[in-house]
Amino acid sequence: MFDLTDRVALVTGAASGIGAEVAVALTGQGARVAGADLTDVTGCASAHRVDVADPDAVDACVREVVDRHGRLDILVNSAGIALLDPALELGIEAWRRTLDVNLTGSWLMAQAAGRVMVEQGYGRIVNLASQAASSGLEKHAAYCASKAGINGLTRTLAVEWGPHGVTVNAVSPTVVLTELGRRAWDNPAGEAHRGEIPARRFAEPSEIAAAVVYLASAEAAMVNGAELKVDGGFTAR
Ligand SMILES: NC(=O)c1ccc[n+]([C@@H]2O[C@H](COP(=O)([O-])OP(=O)(O)OC[C@H]3O[C@@H](n4cnc5c(N)ncnc54)[C@H](O)[C@@H]3O)[C@@H](O)[C@H]2O)c1
Repeated sequence: MFDLTDRVALVTGAASGIGAEVAVALTGQGARVAGADLTDVTGCASAHRVDVADPDAVDACVREVVDRHGRLDILVNSAGIALLDPALELGIEAWRRTLDVNLTGSWLMAQAAGRVMVEQGYGRIVNLASQAASSGLEKHAAYCASKAGINGLTRTLAVEWGPHGVTVNAVSPTVVLTELGRRAWDNPAGEAHRGEIPARRFAEPSEIAAAVVYLASAEAAMVNGAELKVDGGFTAR
């Protein structure tokens, strides 16, 4: 099950954290993985520079991947940032950049990849949302708004593209032990937060990658517009 031989996957944010682990996991299932990031990507079948918030760069990146590999079956939107400040102090630049990268970036990548996938009659898009999509977290105003937006986007694309064999789903992790996760939660608030998660721990990147592999597989054809929570039960409360 979950064999991805001959599938071509494009993973954003592939230089670090969840994206890097997803690239490894998809490769392990037989996919050819194109890794895209603002910074250097290693260990993928091909590496691409992209700022997902830049529409021209996104179009060029998707074109490059299709030219190089001949098709595009899977898109994983893992590029993301967390700029944290109390809501009374959050600056407009941090707000805009968060929405630009996390939400608009996922939209631009999905639209460019979706054009190829709808034409092809097959596709899998997996967006990284977060527990922050459905729970308020202190200092996370822009981040929570961007991730709630991801869920709305995911459902709409699922409805529009489902008839063309393209599924669009979201994965919502709790805190994951990556650069981004450590920066936000390696502090006393993190210790307290761990205690609020029924599993009483944070997630490993490989646990998120496993969920992505499932949603990227042919076997998940009937899962469309879903938010798969990998949060140890945090949002079950
Ligand atoms: N780590 C967590 O606790 C956690 C929890 C829930 C959701 N998420 C989400 O998972 C995704 C991956 O997070 P991570 O923990 O792996 O973070 P990370 O910081 O380890 O990796 C993110 C990658 O995205 C890249 N990136 C940032 N802005 C970009 C842009 N404009 N264009 C292209 N690439 C860009 C970075 O260079 C980096 O390589 C993000 O969307 C994040 O919001 C993370």
